Amino acid sequence: MKVLIIGGGGREHAIARKVALSPKLSRLYCAPGNAGIAECAQCVAIPVNEHEKLADFAVKEGIDLTIVGPDDPLVAGVVDVFEEKGLRVFGPRKNAAIIEGSKAFSKELMKKYQIPTATYETFENSKEAIEYLKNSNYPIVLKADGLALGKGVLICTHFDEAADGVKAIMEDKQFGAAGDRLVVEEFMTGREVSVLAFCDGSHIVTMTSAQDHKRAKDGDEGLNTGGMGTFSPSPFYTGEVDEFCRKYIYQQTLDAMKAEGREFKGILFVGLMLTKEGPKVLEYNARFGDPEAQVVLPRMKNDLLEVCEACIDGQLDKIDLEFEDNAAVCVILASEGYPEHYEKGFVIHGLDAFKGKDNYYAFHAGTKLSGNDIVTNGGRVLGVTAKGKDLKEARNRAYEAAGWIGYDNKYMRKDIGKAIDEI
Ligand code: AMP
Ligand code: GLY
Repeated sequence: MKVLIIGGGGREHAIARKVALSPKLSRLYCAPGNAGIAECAQCVAIPVNEHEKLADFAVKEGIDLTIVGPDDPLVAGVVDVFEEKGLRVFGPRKNAAIIEGSKAFSKELMKKYQIPTATYETFENSKEAIEYLKNSNYPIVLKADGLALGKGVLICTHFDEAADGVKAIMEDKQFGAAGDRLVVEEFMTGREVSVLAFCDGSHIVTMTSAQDHKRAKDGDEGLNTGGMGTFSPSPFYTGEVDEFCRKYIYQQTLDAMKAEGREFKGILFVGLMLTKEGPKVLEYNARFGDPEAQVVLPRMKNDLLEVCEACIDGQLDKIDLEFEDNAAVCVILASEGYPEHYEKGFVIHGLDAFKGKDNYYAFHAGTKLSGNDIVTNGGRVLGVTAKGKDLKEARNRAYEAAGWIGYDNKYMRKDIGKAIDEI
């Protein structure tokens, strides 16, 4: 099979490494890819938002399957463009990717189908939102309706902060059109868990659980980022929690989408908060998590191409999804200053140390080739993942391997997986 992956971050490198293991694969392309992906795929310089160009490339090269990594092209309808040209593509159509693209939509869906989540109100007018916030309990959560690179969520501890947040989102349009509508949501406390699931429209099969660390600094301080590190499995996602979610969340969501005429095929990523009253949905994403994919995919035993094809063909019930009985930890190596201002273009040393080591991975996120060097080219530079027999061993190895890498302005959190010590 000839396969095209759309995207160029750590998640897409993890997908590419996994696809490269498939005996079905004859040729792998990635658009636009990055310096690490270039080691297992042919990178094609087409940006992820150039849907027609991507589809034309797929037609020209006779691509048998395209896998879409990032949220933007999915929400903007890249799958529809590919399907119109008769191409096979793994990911939800535009009318289903809205489950990630609009928080107002996903909250409405959960309310209508009684899927457990935080109580909320939606506003299209900032004055009404501010009026509502005068009489609310604090802390409270403000969410820009649309995509905002994981930054459109504000947790406000008092009214003045919330009023400023409403102005920033709805009036100053800090997140652009994503702030045309605002969701105001009850603040929940508990452990967060990410559960990614394959979906074929009717069947949903969950992968092993993971936990992300969204804040930039140790101790969950600092700004929200795309994710600074992950571990898998989450020991807090117990059999009991899984049973609850199976009963009240996963299949319900898929059935709800179908009932709304928005059949969901691809990856449904359910962000859960394990509250005292039970698991509740924090958010839905319509794609693999980044860096969740970097800990989940290395543990997956199945052939990813086979599973993607089963999703497209509505045959997911025929697949027995299996994961290794071990653990994985990913530490993100970032550029000092991320997620705000940072410098790039620094030479990365130490990547050769990963060669030939089965349980260690250096997934490239923001990297590029410059002459013979690989240099930093983004806020999140590399995802260093290690597998071990348990979470502690995986974490020790991941930090050991993170030390093999050197570049100017290297920054990482030192406490990825700290929660493991509490069990
Ligand atoms: P989201 O993009 O909706 O996942 O939100 C980003 C992050 O904000 C989540 O991972 C949580 O840490 C936090 N968050 C979102 N909604 C809530 C909520 N209702 N209560 C507490 N924290 C939240
Ligand atoms: N790591 C969270 C996300 O991919 O949205």
